[in-house]
Formats: sequence, structure tokens, C-alpha cells
Amino acid sequence: MAIGITVIGTGYLGATHAAAMAELGFEVLGLDVVPEKIGTLSRGEVPFYEPGLEELLRRHVAGVAGSTGRLRFTTSWEEVGEFGDVHFVCVNTPQKQGEYACDMSYVDSAVDSLAPHLARPALVVGKSTVPVGSAERLAARLARLAPAGDAVELAWNPEFLREGFAVEDTLRPDRIVVGVRSDRAEELLREVYAKPVAAGSPFVVTDFPTAELVKTAANSFLATKISFINAMAEVCETAGGDVVKLAEAIGYDDRIGRKFLRAGIGFGGGCLPKDIRAFMARAGELGADQALTFLREVDSINMRRRSHMVDLTRETVGGTFLGQRVAVLGATFKPDSDDVRDSPALNVAGQIHLQGGQVTVYDPKGMANARRVFPTLGYADSAAEAVRGADVVLHLTEWREFRELDPQVLGEAVAHRRILDGRNTLDPELWRKSGWFFRALGRPTA
Ligand code: UDX
Repeated sequence: MAIGITVIGTGYLGATHAAAMAELGFEVLGLDVVPEKIGTLSRGEVPFYEPGLEELLRRHVAGVAGSTGRLRFTTSWEEVGEFGDVHFVCVNTPQKQGEYACDMSYVDSAVDSLAPHLARPALVVGKSTVPVGSAERLAARLARLAPAGDAVELAWNPEFLREGFAVEDTLRPDRIVVGVRSDRAEELLREVYAKPVAAGSPFVVTDFPTAELVKTAANSFLATKISFINAMAEVCETAGGDVVKLAEAIGYDDRIGRKFLRAGIGFGGGCLPKDIRAFMARAGELGADQALTFLREVDSINMRRRSHMVDLTRETVGGTFLGQRVAVLGATFKPDSDDVRDSPALNVAGQIHLQGGQVTVYDPKGMANARRVFPTLGYADSAAEAVRGADVVLHLTEWREFRELDPQVLGEAVAHRRILDGRNTLDPELWRKSGWFFRALGRPTA
């Protein structure tokens, strides 16, 4: 039997998952409740920036010349219910306003909208990052609301994709984790993921709570690693050490590893910050809050990085931002993405603006989103334009374009040759040779 796959929610996760499933050879129907998104995707266009995704989408979206036609999009729950044997739920679970807990309303309403249309056996697979215990609750809800009753099963299959590498991570995942309650659910998911598994991706079968926890544990570990190296950066700065060398040296130890040891202005984005907070909130509800008190410290070290960057900048321009022009290179939370959610770069730019600095931001892909969330900042169309007349330049998102800037050329445009590297990816020697005052977080000043 050919498996019909549906993907509910077409954001970063859902759009990529839908295209990847079509690439694996399945007939796929993607659903979103926002008609504009469905219109855009149906034309083979991606409503956000993700390298390689538009090419993948165009290879499969029905109606695009030369496509396989295996991928279609809809806003109709009825159509999704009729079409799918396996339904992937990929809606987002943002942080609740003013709380640590995550907002489950999109997941809940996806299940409530889908269930009444499930009149034959089907497997609903949750991919969203949720508080442990959600799968259990949603399984009961599905069985109650679906006309097919017990013939509708739930599985949990967390997603580990990184923005900027979403296509690669989805087609060739590091691991596939499935929380299941029956052999039938496991077999179906083994069939769906047969190709990546044959290509070497480990397939880990477990229960609901473990599957849910794998995702939050992985993100908590990554956040902890970043805050650990940022704590070392704080110590290096006071002791005169160099955190970049330190990270390199400890990273050679295989047990530690070199990845995720880049000190700087810390982590942001739609996942790590909210996931560690939601994890703490959930542990509190379960009475296990003591086990995760260290995450509070991970979070506060991370937030301290942003204000430290602001303090260093103020110090560099003479103690006040009033009358100072500050050029900010980078607005997204990481390179190769247009995502500015909880972006440390934009947060630093905003703090300086609120303290009276005249801020001009440039980012290769994040300008539209940055303008939307922070319309009162100044914006420029290129790095060269952003730095014109600047008293200080801040490097806050490590785009390749910024690494390739010529300090000599830039030096002729600024008022003062002063640059602060918030990501530790620029070459201090190169900038200093061209007469710049160069300062990087956790590194010696000269
Ligand atoms: C993360 C996880 O990596 C991914 O597995 C999960 O599915 C979703 O959350 P993502 O949010 O795309 O992915 O970004 P990631 O590459 O993890 O970076 C997160 C933040 O940490 C960025 O702001 C990045 O700049 C920062 N970071 C990363 C550091 O400050 N230092 C590092 O060494 C690595």
C-alpha cells in the first residue's frame, strides 16, 4: 500500500518536512491554516529563507514545471483526513507571553481540527517540541474525538533540524527517535524512514515520555555547552585569557568535542531559549524542579552576554551612547537564516538604541523581519552603508559576508576605526593591522 503523508503546519519545520517526505518518494499533502502561506508554497516559493529548500520544494510541488507533482498544499482539514495514512503535526509551540511554559494551543487545536476527519485507521505523529506528558494527553484526546476511535494511533517523533541546515538535517538526520505504543506504529514509521535508515541514520524506538524528553534534553545540553563556554569567556576576560584558544584546546578532548563551544553574545532563536524555559516549567509541575535549577543559571549566563556586549560598546565609545553612531552587522539569531526570533544581535541593537545610541543595522537576509519587529532602529542596505560615519562597529551575527569584509576599505568609511566582535569569528590581527581598535568577547584586548 502506498502511504499517504500529510504535514500539518508549514513553518520552518513543516515546510521542510513536507518537501523531504516528497523527496523520499511519498505523496504528500501539507496543511496550514494561513491561506497566504498555502498560496506561496503552492507556487513553489518558500515564505522564509532556508538554503536549498526552495529547490527541493520546486522539484516536487504539483503545478511547477518539471516537478514530480508529489507535493500539494491545502487549507482543508477534510481533505487531509481523507488523504493521510500518516499525519505529521509540525505546528509551533512558542513561549507563553510572560511565562516560562510553552503555549500548546496550536498543537491542541491541530489535533482538535484533525481528529473529527479521521474516519479510517491512521497514525498521527507529533514532531513539535512539547512538555513531557503531552503525547499521553493527546493520544487520549484523539481516541475520543476521531470517528475511527482506537484505530487512530499516536506516535512521538521529535525533530532535531537546525535552521540553515534544515534540508540536510531532514534528509540525513543524525538519528530518528520514535515514541510508540504498538508494533504497528513502529512498522509504519520504519517504512516512512526506510531510506534515511538504510543510509545510516540510527532509529531509536522508545516510549512517549522518553521521546519527548530526548528533544528537550538535547537542546538543554546544547544550551548548557554554550553557556559553559560563555562563563569561561567571562573568567578569561577578567584573568586576561583567550576563550577562543581555551575552547580549541578543551575541544580536542573527544569527550568534550569542539562543536558548540563558540563564545560570544549567546544563543537565541525560536528553540533553545524557550525550550530550556519550558523544560524548567514542566519539571516544576512534575515536582522535579530541583533537577533543573542549573538551567536557570544557563539562561542567566546567556542573557548576561547581551548586556555585557552593550556595556563594552558603551565603554568603547567613551561612557555614553548619546551622539554616538553605532553600526550593527547582523540581525538574525544565526547566519544562513532570516529568523530574528529572540535574536541576541537585535536585542543588543535595541538596548543601545534605547540608551540613546544612533543605531544602523544591516543583515544579509534578516532585514524584513528585523524591520517588522523593531521598526524604530535605523537600517541600511549594505554593510558599507551601515558603517558610514560610525563611531563603533559591532559584529553580532557571523555571516560569511562579514568575515570577508576588507578592514582597510571599511576603515575609510567610518568616523572611528573601532570594532567589537560579538561572535569571535573575525581575525583580530587583520583588523588591528589596518589600524582598528579590535575587541572580542573573552579575548585579550591587544
Ligand atoms: C537548535 C538545535 O541545534 C536543533 O537541534 C533543534 O532542533 C532546534 O534548536 P537552531 O535554533 O536552528 O537549532 O540553532 P543552533 O545552530 O542550535 O544555534 C542556536 C543559537 O546558539 C544561535 O543563536 C547560535 O548563534 C548560538 N550558538 C551556537 C553559540 O552562541 N555558540 C555556539 O557554539 C553554537
